[in-house]
Amino acid sequence: MTLDTDDFLDIDDVTPAELDQLLDRAAAIKAGTDESRLDDATLGMIFEKPSTRTRVSFETGMTRLGGHAMFLGPDDIQLGHGEPLKDTARVLGRYVDVVMARLFDHADVETLAEYADCPVINGLTDEAHPCQTLADLLTIREAVGEDARVAWVGDGNNVGQSFVVGAAMAGIDVSVATPADYGMDPAVFERAAAFGADVEPTTDPKAVIGDADVVYTDVWISMGQEDLREEKLAAFDGFQVNESLLADTDADVMHCLPAHRNEEITDGVMESDRALVWEQAENRMHAQNALLVELLDDA
Ligand code: CP
Ligand code: NVA
Repeated sequence: MTLDTDDFLDIDDVTPAELDQLLDRAAAIKAGTDESRLDDATLGMIFEKPSTRTRVSFETGMTRLGGHAMFLGPDDIQLGHGEPLKDTARVLGRYVDVVMARLFDHADVETLAEYADCPVINGLTDEAHPCQTLADLLTIREAVGEDARVAWVGDGNNVGQSFVVGAAMAGIDVSVATPADYGMDPAVFERAAAFGADVEPTTDPKAVIGDADVVYTDVWISMGQEDLREEKLAAFDGFQVNESLLADTDADVMHCLPAHRNEEITDGVMESDRALVWEQAENRMHAQNALLVELLDDA
């Protein structure tokens, strides 16, 4: 199988059938039954924001596939010192086989993809985090199965937006509770509707938790939003995923990490048997390796 798309900028750059096959390959790579190799391939990794999981999972993943990954932080390359993004893109495309970028502005990852003559993967922008969605869907497959019902509780952010669309593509029932002023882009629900999902967001976390198999949350203050801290903390009162909110449910809990313990999720919930967060983190590597193999097979 190969992918129709050259780049992976958000989850619906692939079709539902391709998503299903990516998850199958990720599971096989994890199980050791798919021994695909990317010998001598090089991944260039551009980071405008910090990262633990994305950096380490891509770098380790490339090593496991027989390739190599190169960390390009803001102080390491000329991009951080005035060289235009499109020039950086053109040059990188002459050296590396694939680029992964973590950038602020989603339009910038689109520019990168337009000018780089190699596949470009979105490693998180302010709008989207599709690699996280791949890992999340693999985790849900393993823990619950594909008839799962998932409640997103918290900020309508990049992780949530890609997840809602990806869940719709995978046939997972998803509901959304966010504060009124911090909801998802309405276009996200239209994209989910294109895959048959009818998502009506609410501002009441309790309303979505009742029949959920999984409750998914993320930080309230994303990278780059530090100036909004006080107003966001006030707006998210009642949205903490804690023992009280979960009192009447056996639902598992997901978080893309890093978690701000006792802010959006309690220490107790993080340490409880409900937490699927460590599987999610591990699955980043398996899911991304499947993606790398499929994208480079197609290049
Ligand atoms: N979930 C995630 O992308 O984590 P990092 O910010 O550590 O990469
Ligand atoms: N929403 C978070 C996700 C971090 C992986 C952020 O953008 O900071």
